[in-house]
Amino acid sequence: MSAPDESASSEGVGAGPGFTPREVTVHRHPDQLAKVTRALRATGRKVVLVPTMGALHEGHLELVRAARRVPNSVTVVSIFVNPLQFGPDEDFDSYPRSFDSDVEALGREGVELVFSPGRDELYGSDPQITVDAGEPGRDLEGASRPGHFSGVLTVVAKLLNIVGPNLALFGEKDYQQLVLLRRMVRELNIPTDVQGIPIVRESDGLALSSRNRYLDQRRRSAALVLSAALAAGAHAGSRGAEAVLAAAREVLAAEPEVKLDYLELRDPELGPPPETGEARLLVAAEVGGTRLLDNALVELSAAEAE
Ligand code: PAJ
Repeated sequence: MSAPDESASSEGVGAGPGFTPREVTVHRHPDQLAKVTRALRATGRKVVLVPTMGALHEGHLELVRAARRVPNSVTVVSIFVNPLQFGPDEDFDSYPRSFDSDVEALGREGVELVFSPGRDELYGSDPQITVDAGEPGRDLEGASRPGHFSGVLTVVAKLLNIVGPNLALFGEKDYQQLVLLRRMVRELNIPTDVQGIPIVRESDGLALSSRNRYLDQRRRSAALVLSAALAAGAHAGSRGAEAVLAAAREVLAAEPEVKLDYLELRDPELGPPPETGEARLLVAAEVGGTRLLDNALVELSAAEAE
């Protein structure tokens, strides 16, 4: 790993100090990183941003691999546990942090730039301005976590402004987050393309999440009903929306450890579900105090009259 001030550019990439090809450089200061990405863009390189809160797992690394596949690009991965998106009773303090092994894993994936600001470096001493996620930000996750999406949109807007990426990648795992971020860049005219990457799962179906490390063995096996319910719902798509929800509900009800928050069928933009065609089935539940999310694509056919 190089620290920004000691590394110098080589091979004529022209990015100046703070960037060394084929080595990870960790930046803590927004201005320094902005300078590096600006210089790289000026040489014709595309900049691809993967925002994370660290505690990296294979789901994050799939985003990184997708970023690395963009031709003539440089990947920036941000690691910042964003206080603004956690509620007062949520797990900000205990959120898993594994910075050194995260940077090592990113180095193995060929990532050259990591942005890991401190809270003060990113927010300054008296931040007042935030991005309001509007009505869609109070739906689903937003109904249970007031202010959460304002925190997410604010930090991502800041990251996009600092890094200036051509492309930013997010997981479909946090489907509502992805929909809101697409909407933010569109409505605020931010010149970054936002793309989603399919959910990475364990072989038994559990969607990878940094919070899975809170689950002991019993709760982990209870948590499997989330993906099982979505699979049952998706399987019932040919029998219409009501059948999808009923099939998923039946699977969830069989596991008393799982406290359901919501199970909803929506259109791909999270509006009311269509009669036929593509829809999203979304679930949120608590398992032993850990909040888990999952979702799946459902192909709906019109329910046949009995
Ligand atoms: P975090 O939970 O660290 O997730 C970072 C990115 O990894 C998100 O885009 C998330 O959807 C994606 N991801 C997580 N688990 C995944 C899985 N199993 N399969 C595919 N992608 C997965 O989401 C956040 O951080 C924050 O809200 C952030 C956007 C960084 C803003 O603070």
